[in-house]
Amino acid sequence: MSPHIRQARPEDRAALFSICVRTAHAGADASGLYSDPDYPGLVWSVPYLEFSPEQAFVLDDGGDILGYVVGTPNTEAFERQLDAEWWPMLAEKYAGREAVATLDNNVLDRIRQPKHSNAALSQRYPAHLHINLLPPAQSGGWGRKMIETELDALRKAGAKAMHLGLSLTNDRAYGFYQHLGLSEIGRDDAIWMGITL
Ligand SMILES: CC(C)(COP(=O)(O)OP(=O)(O)OC[C@H]1O[C@@H](n2cnc3c(N)ncnc32)[C@H](O)[C@@H]1OP(=O)(O)O)[C@@H](O)C(=O)NCCC(=O)NCCS
Repeated sequence: MSPHIRQARPEDRAALFSICVRTAHAGADASGLYSDPDYPGLVWSVPYLEFSPEQAFVLDDGGDILGYVVGTPNTEAFERQLDAEWWPMLAEKYAGREAVATLDNNVLDRIRQPKHSNAALSQRYPAHLHINLLPPAQSGGWGRKMIETELDALRKAGAKAMHLGLSLTNDRAYGFYQHLGLSEIGRDDAIWMGITL
């Protein structure tokens, strides 16, 4: 079977954890930077599968998952749901964990003290997304197709505009998003880009 984009399913959870850590260092492999390979996926991929499944898609190559795009049409409502149902569960589960590897605290701190999007940004651009493809699936047009799939799903859910954040050093993703029509809308410890839907 050739690769195809399909709705993500609960059994894709392991792939979402694995792809996230292998692309979490400004698009490159972050495996050596986290002591637990699930850490980045706890923040940037799996909660979307759990709480926003209608906007979660994978690139499926005959059972091998090569990438995902996840998102939510309403960032503030999504964050409220995580505050109620996701972070407290993780805080209990990972209560005894201490940071060992370089980036562990990026995740452990968020679990214990959840971060929220800038209110002005999420009111003006209510939806947001994350896209991550493994190297074999990159540069072949799948990124564009997956973003288009996600933006359609966000539009169908009623979103009028979407934002996303990227690392200050992810030049490749910046060029990709710009090419697809997103504009820079802010910059602090990350670059923020947005588009009207
Ligand atoms: C960033 C990423 C999603 C892009 O997906 P991709 O499959 O590599 O990109 P595509 O092949 O679909 O490119 C789509 C279009 O963007 C263009 N493009 C891609 N990268 C570009 C760049 N850096 N600058 C300008 N244009 C770019 C392509 O030429 C193509 O143009 P066309 O459709 O008009 O012919 C993918 O490379 C990836 O997952 N990288 C690792 C994880 C990551 O960095 N995720 C983003 C975190 S914010």
